[in-house]
Amino acid sequence: MYRDLFNTELSLKDVGKHVSLVGWVAKKRNLGQLLFIDLRDRSGIIQVLVKDNVKCCEIRNEYVINVKGVVSKKETPNPKLKTGEIEIIADEVNLINSAINPPLIIDNNTDALEETRLKYRYLDLRRPIMQHYLDIRHKIKMAVHEYLNQYHFIEIETPMLCASSPEGAKEYLVPSRIHKGNFYALPQSPQMFKQMLMVGGLERYYQIARCFRDEDLRADRQPDFTQIDIETSFLSQDELLKLMEGLLYKIFKDTIGVEISLPLRQIKYSDAIKNYGSDKPDTRFDMKLFDVDDILQKLNIPFYQGNLSIRAIKVENIAAETSRKVIDSLNLEAKKFNLDFVNVLKYENNEFHGSLAKYLDEESISNLINRANLNNGDILIISHGSYNRVCSFLGSLRNNYAKQLKLIKPNTYDLLWIVDFPMFEKNVEDNKIVATHHPFTRPKDECLDQLKTNPLEVLSYAYDIVINGYEAGGGTLRIYDQNIQKQIFEILGLSDEQIQEKFGYFIEALKYGTPPHGGIAFGLDRLAMILGGTDNIRDVIAFPKNLNAVDPVSGAPNKVDNDQLEELGISLKN
Ligand code: AMO
Repeated sequence: MYRDLFNTELSLKDVGKHVSLVGWVAKKRNLGQLLFIDLRDRSGIIQVLVKDNVKCCEIRNEYVINVKGVVSKKETPNPKLKTGEIEIIADEVNLINSAINPPLIIDNNTDALEETRLKYRYLDLRRPIMQHYLDIRHKIKMAVHEYLNQYHFIEIETPMLCASSPEGAKEYLVPSRIHKGNFYALPQSPQMFKQMLMVGGLERYYQIARCFRDEDLRADRQPDFTQIDIETSFLSQDELLKLMEGLLYKIFKDTIGVEISLPLRQIKYSDAIKNYGSDKPDTRFDMKLFDVDDILQKLNIPFYQGNLSIRAIKVENIAAETSRKVIDSLNLEAKKFNLDFVNVLKYENNEFHGSLAKYLDEESISNLINRANLNNGDILIISHGSYNRVCSFLGSLRNNYAKQLKLIKPNTYDLLWIVDFPMFEKNVEDNKIVATHHPFTRPKDECLDQLKTNPLEVLSYAYDIVINGYEAGGGTLRIYDQNIQKQIFEILGLSDEQIQEKFGYFIEALKYGTPPHGGIAFGLDRLAMILGGTDNIRDVIAFPKNLNAVDPVSGAPNKVDNDQLEELGISLKN
């Protein structure tokens, strides 16, 4: 037998007991006649004291050892350790396995670069903080299973090798050996399958589903990621959201002991854009966007010509630090949003300063001060351009300033629904109408009349859950009426052949008595990130891809043998 129990199961109540423990050597200190070892197992660290008359193997960092000894009270407790009040006085220390010198410091405070951590992920995972992240992830899944089981959901797996799904990102393709020249797609989500499960009469489905999307990586995106995927029949949007709020409540309670207050707020998509410049607003701080076109447009300012939006944010108490250099960098930032420039008005000594100031008259000065509730030391950042660009730009500045000025209290959680998304939007590149979510999203009943006349005004039964400025999940009610589905395809400009080719099997399925249905998918990785308190999605995934979509442990993606390609009927261009 290797061990009697985990390190941190021991406490003062066990003083005097003889125990056998196992683990890795986290640290050793040799004081001549006394050797101190920090023994680490998954539960945590315990100190071992080895006197010089005790049988002890060679001790080096990361050696796997077995310690037998007596639990005793420490004279000076170590408040940093859960087991800080006790130590083990060893009577025997045996080597189970040796280790070569690790290439990174295995401690929460490692100085290793992320590149090294990812390459030696199996060592990185020994760091307690990493085990904490994976534990949070596990606890979320346990909460999901318990909660959904209670509400009559059943877990069903759907295929990994399948046909295209409609989420709209690039897909990972898998060549078929049997059907040369044909490809499976890895699922971007189980969307079509879960809807067919509703046609199949399953009524309440869920799955912890692996999903694959070949898109540009960011701090909150991975090429393979995991969804808590859910679909239900015969529920209204309100009923579904209420059920999901219960799930979120349990997830927060079970993982970090936080009781979120329900019901969650709902903000309309259009209001989110108007007030926060984002459909995933972080509302833990204020700094709302506001219009100033009514104040500035009439002043005939040469650079505010045309009928474009002029909107602003106020940043408090930062005028003194807003140098020429800062303003230059704001202008550069504006260019990233396809805006020509930005104006900054500083309000100091009861006066406006900045290139715009000379155009202001008494009335506009007092209107600006009142609208923004300005105090000396505040600045106004004013942006001019198309409404959407101006909002996105100011929304992004809002987030940057919140970080810079530390406006967000740590360990606070802000959950809200964004609802009433538009059904369609215009593609910026080719001006074509595309579905905002996917073409099976149900338009709101009160907007059906506008489908033909004004499709861009049509709202949908679509909702996202936003937590601390992250899109943590999203879903929609689905169309179950064949006529509406047909109209949607027409608006999207899909011909019968295209519909048949892309979704033929699915459209066929929907003809056989489809129940009203709808669902949602939560990003498990994003939830684990938020609850674990990290802003790096890679921290909560055991073996993540790096920002170049490479798995640094195995080196995937790799070249394959010509024989293998031959068998698949594939020849490479170069
Ligand atoms: P959607 O595409 O909005 O909806 O995805 C749902 C949630 O999945 C997470 N997510 C990601 N997480 C990490 N890396 C990624 N690359 C990534 N992409 C998405 C987000 C997102 O909110 N089938 C629909 C759901 C439905 O309608 O039921 C879907 O997949 O948290």
